[in-house]
Amino acid sequence: MPVLEGKELRIVGFLCNWCSYGGADTAGVGRFTQPTDLRVVRVPCSGRIDPLFIVKALLGGADGVLVSGCHPRDCHYSEGNFYARRRLEVLKRFLPFIGIEPGRFEYTWVSASEGQRWQQVVTSFTEQIHKLGPAPKIEGAEADATLKLLEAAL
Ligand code: FES
Repeated sequence: MPVLEGKELRIVGFLCNWCSYGGADTAGVGRFTQPTDLRVVRVPCSGRIDPLFIVKALLGGADGVLVSGCHPRDCHYSEGNFYARRRLEVLKRFLPFIGIEPGRFEYTWVSASEGQRWQQVVTSFTEQIHKLGPAPKIEGAEADATLKLLEAAL
């Protein structure tokens, strides 16, 4: 049963394989109650996440996107999360210019042993998205123009 009452929204979660995916797994094994809105995409490292993945998810119907990787200095590829942090911070500031509320996107760090932290992160992000409601649709030529603009900028 979902933690939050009402309609389930579509939230995409990009989780690094080594830490945050393990943290989500730990939360599941520990039977911590979580909202069911999140759909997980497992990536090798947060540094693998192109900001366009996030924009495409938001333009493609996601109501929110959450990225989670290893804590700074814990990345299994040494500095992938430092690259990710730079790119994702720029993206967060860029979103309002393309008509997407910045609150629809968040990034964080969760280790494999932090099942309880994962539960808190996913619950508070889901509550935030529920407060914003379903994302307004950006489709057709407008969406194509937005993607071209971002491909050139990022
Ligand atoms: Fe987890 Fe790089 S391996 S962020």
